[in-house]
Amino acid sequence: MKVLGITGSPRDKSNTEYFVQYTLNELEKHGMETELIRLRDKNIHHCTGCYGCVEAKVCTLPKDDFDEVFEKMMEADGILIGSPVYNSSSTAITKALLDRAGFLGRWISNDMKGKSENYEWKGTAFSGKVAAPITVARRAGQNFTFAELMLWMTVNDLIVIGSHYWNVGVAGKGGAVDADEDMEAASILSHLAENMAHVIKQLKK
Ligand SMILES: Cc1cc2nc3c(=O)[nH]c(=O)nc-3n(C[C@H](O)[C@H](O)[C@H](O)COP(=O)(O)O)c2cc1C
Repeated sequence: MKVLGITGSPRDKSNTEYFVQYTLNELEKHGMETELIRLRDKNIHHCTGCYGCVEAKVCTLPKDDFDEVFEKMMEADGILIGSPVYNSSSTAITKALLDRAGFLGRWISNDMKGKSENYEWKGTAFSGKVAAPITVARRAGQNFTFAELMLWMTVNDLIVIGSHYWNVGVAGKGGAVDADEDMEAASILSHLAENMAHVIKQLKK
């Protein structure tokens, strides 16, 4: 049982990484194997809307690090997606991954229908996986970004896991890396990990 944490901060030592890694550590206490991917270390071009994946069933953009990250997402039972809030939204590197992964995941399993045909839904590459967003802001825009990540999860057939509050961290005034001071986030993320491990174990029975 494996959980993949993805952090979408462009910064080296980041608050988002702290919160995602904290949650992964908690998941390990519940018997999960974990791995962290930092998108800042990856070169992932944004989706160009070429629709090449509809026929090819792979992303047809020139080779970059997308395939490697997508494969890790496929191997995982659970996926945590963490992003700092930038102008009330997720970061560009987070969005680049999610646009490509979501579209490819859909067309790997499905055929494009004509306008008058019914949709014959066969699931997505993400069907049956569990997921949760983690957003980090200095002050505002958490809910928009949290919703953005959660909407990606729900449209791609993932099962979203909750906690006793939204999985948001408050940190980073003036660029500070001070996520460890947010004790409420620690409690929220511990419970998130407990819930996620519980659901994965039930699904794996
Ligand atoms: C370009 C940019 C835009 C930002 N926009 C917001 C914002 O809309 N709301 C907010 O509360 N903080 C905003 N911040 C602050 C970051 O969300 C905050 O410092 C966060 O802790 C950074 O996470 P990181 O350490 O994981 O990179 C912004 C920071 C940058 C660099």
